[in-house]
Amino acid sequence: MTGSSDKPMEHNLSQIDVIYDAETIADRIEVLSQKIASDLPEDVLIIVILKGSFIFAADLLRALDSSGMQPMVDFITIWSYGASTESTGTVNLTRDITEDVRDRAVLVVDDILDTGRTLAYAKNLMTSRGAKTVHTCVLLDKEARREEPIEANYVGFPVEDVFVVGYGIDKAHRFRSLPFIGVVRTS
Ligand code: IMP
Ligand code: MG
Repeated sequence: MTGSSDKPMEHNLSQIDVIYDAETIADRIEVLSQKIASDLPEDVLIIVILKGSFIFAADLLRALDSSGMQPMVDFITIWSYGASTESTGTVNLTRDITEDVRDRAVLVVDDILDTGRTLAYAKNLMTSRGAKTVHTCVLLDKEARREEPIEANYVGFPVEDVFVVGYGIDKAHRFRSLPFIGVVRTS
């Protein structure tokens, strides 16, 4: 490669301030999974909202298994941010689940509860399709940003009104592979 414009963007970790490290996340998921296992039926259907929650969901599912559950899993792609760092204000469903939720206990899993539009949309959709119960679990809760009156039943950690990345969560499709949650430094 010659011109610098041809180079891929550098993955410079010194730009990122860690707010929750890998061990802290793993410990919290252990606690969450025990709580979920004591509240919900062991054959709960977990609906993972892609893409941001795929790593969280993978760790949560394994922790649930260790807590004695045998959850099933399906995936739905819903997005409101796209490549931007501001919510577009509308929720887009671009890939639906294939499971029938009728009369089943459902746990919707997302990475971040922000304005609440995404989780409210997913919860209403499952309820309207006849799910017996719909619980919700998010890794991060940005409570200060809420516009819809919704709270998650299970929350990993609170976060301030900052744009976070890592552990599956992206900024314009980057940083999903970081094993921790951090904030990209702007200055
Ligand atoms: P809501 O619909 O406004 O609650 O937005 C929730 C969705 O926005 C999450 O599933 C994330 O995909 C995305 N999101 C919200 N805050 C952040 C952030 O700080 N970093 C990356 N994505 C975010
Ligand atoms: Mg998302």
